[in-house]
Amino acid sequence: MKGTITRCAKELVESRFGADQWQQILDHAQVDEDTRYRLAYPTTDIDDGMAKDILRSTGEVLGLTPEQVADAFGEHWCCVYAPKIYSSILTRFNSAREMILGMDKVHVQLTATIKNARPPRFDYQWTDENTLLVTYKSFRGMIDIYRGLVLGVGKLFNEPLSARKLSDSQVEIVFS
Ligand code: HEM
Repeated sequence: MKGTITRCAKELVESRFGADQWQQILDHAQVDEDTRYRLAYPTTDIDDGMAKDILRSTGEVLGLTPEQVADAFGEHWCCVYAPKIYSSILTRFNSAREMILGMDKVHVQLTATIKNARPPRFDYQWTDENTLLVTYKSFRGMIDIYRGLVLGVGKLFNEPLSARKLSDSQVEIVFS
């Protein structure tokens, strides 16, 4: 997985909990020296298992559930990290609906020229005018992170929305 994910996690932990906690998280996940050095480079390749261990370790060290880690990650990504690094993408969208529906295309286009990228894909189905059923398609199985990012999109646009995990591949989003 691309280092942009671990970089965002590092920034989140260091800004909210401090650099010492981040070091403890890396120690707890037994992250090797090479990965420690590379994990803040957005286009570097971080082993998928290692990236997931770091997120798991974040919860264990900080005393947060996986859902709480995912929610904090999603908020930080959407409201702090992406506006700094990917502002040209964010300005394409005017609402939470537009951004969530645009994410399949963004991941495909953005990673088309990045070596070794294997972005998640999303299928969308409206079940009524405010309810969107999203099928998350990724071999990584990170649906909690998906849900956290959806909630982050709601916060970015200051729009109340709910996101409920229905299974390991489906999330139901209700817009207001
Ligand atoms: C400016 C906005 C965004 C950019 C530039 C972006 C880019 C990326 C990149 C480069 C990766 C790593 C892919 C790889 O290693 O092959 C990734 C992973 C991921 N992205 Fe995004 N992303 C954005 C927003 C979002 C949003 C809003 C969502 C959900 C609503 C989302 C869902 C995910 C998930 C769940 C992953 C984890 C990897 C996986 O599940 O396989 N992303 N994204």
